[in-house]
Amino acid sequence: MFAEIVIYGIFLSIIFYLANRFYFSGARYESNKQLNGKIAIVTGANSGIGYETALDFAKRGAHVILACRDTVKAEKSVEIIRRQTGNEKVDYEIIDLADLNSVKSFCGKIKSKFDRLDILVNNAGVMGCPTTWRTKQGYEMHFGVNYLGHFLLTNLLLDLIKKTPQSRIVSLSSCIHYIAKMYWNSFNGGINIMKGYSQSKLVIILFTKELTKRLDGSGVTCVCLNPGVVRTDILRYTAKSVCFLFPIIVNLLYLLYMVFTKSPFEGALTTIYCAIDDEVPKYNGYYFSDCNIKKPSKAALNEQDAKRLWDISVEMIDPKVYQYSN
Ligand SMILES: NC(=O)c1ccc[n+]([C@@H]2O[C@H](COP(=O)([O-])OP(=O)(O)OC[C@H]3O[C@@H](n4cnc5c(N)ncnc54)[C@H](OP(=O)(O)O)[C@@H]3O)[C@@H](O)[C@H]2O)c1
Repeated sequence: MFAEIVIYGIFLSIIFYLANRFYFSGARYESNKQLNGKIAIVTGANSGIGYETALDFAKRGAHVILACRDTVKAEKSVEIIRRQTGNEKVDYEIIDLADLNSVKSFCGKIKSKFDRLDILVNNAGVMGCPTTWRTKQGYEMHFGVNYLGHFLLTNLLLDLIKKTPQSRIVSLSSCIHYIAKMYWNSFNGGINIMKGYSQSKLVIILFTKELTKRLDGSGVTCVCLNPGVVRTDILRYTAKSVCFLFPIIVNLLYLLYMVFTKSPFEGALTTIYCAIDDEVPKYNGYYFSDCNIKKPSKAALNEQDAKRLWDISVEMIDPKVYQYSN
């Protein structure tokens, strides 16, 4: 009996390992491309996918700016990346994407220090925030952090990006956008967490489409992507809003969680591919998954919605509007 259990255990472990290695861990991307002389900004680079992305760019010789909201976490990440890569041109700058004034101040500092920007990775994100949470200017948290903060950031850095040859803007969406719809009256709140998060990832694709159109002929490549299901800290707020048992359930199902998810490094590979691969500019405006183009949902291809979202976003980042929205 004991021997049978051991044999079944070994058999299952091998199956699980192979399933993860050859399917759930996603596409591999290997490239020797160097980024010496290039400047890259990665938001939310102190953990998860953003950290692995910043580490990879630093290994390739880029000057990397980790755009983070927490000084202690940012300093620690910069120190580790510098030590691991030997690249001293790794710095951080504070940005809180839940505060449009912080985004403005971040961009002011970047513009005073640099006269080019080769890669902007709009990576930072929150998921599962309680429905009562709002940004500093009163916007629904998922919409505000995952999208609106990045909308302002990208627009304020556009002059720098446009004057840099072959520059790229890479934004992180998610496969969850396939179940998303636009809830046009929800940007100040009144939406449940699943709808709020999925909408924030749908609008990233609409934003990328509209941005690509507006930057036509500028030489800037704009793409967005799904990193896959990745073992990061992204679920940290979910217990607060869904169920306090959530972390316990995840731990109980740990083995399955390990099999069906990517490591943060594997999760960063599509971002890295989109940011550096020579093939990507051919697919300007596209949505990627597993280092390949993929058709997004019908809602994500709605050009009228993309234009409408852009116009509303321009109003929402206007201080004259948001000072009354609290
Ligand atoms: N993990 C997945 O399965 C998955 C799937 C699809 C898409 N994504 C997307 O991938 C991106 C990266 O997520 P991740 O999985 O790597 O999660 P993560 O480890 O939780 O990283 C999120 C990063 O965003 C930062 N952040 C959160 N709120 C911020 C704010 N207001 N201002 C500035 N930075 C802020 C966090 O900073 P703190 O450490 O200070 O909180 C953290 O560095 C997100 O956009 C996420 O939606 C992830």
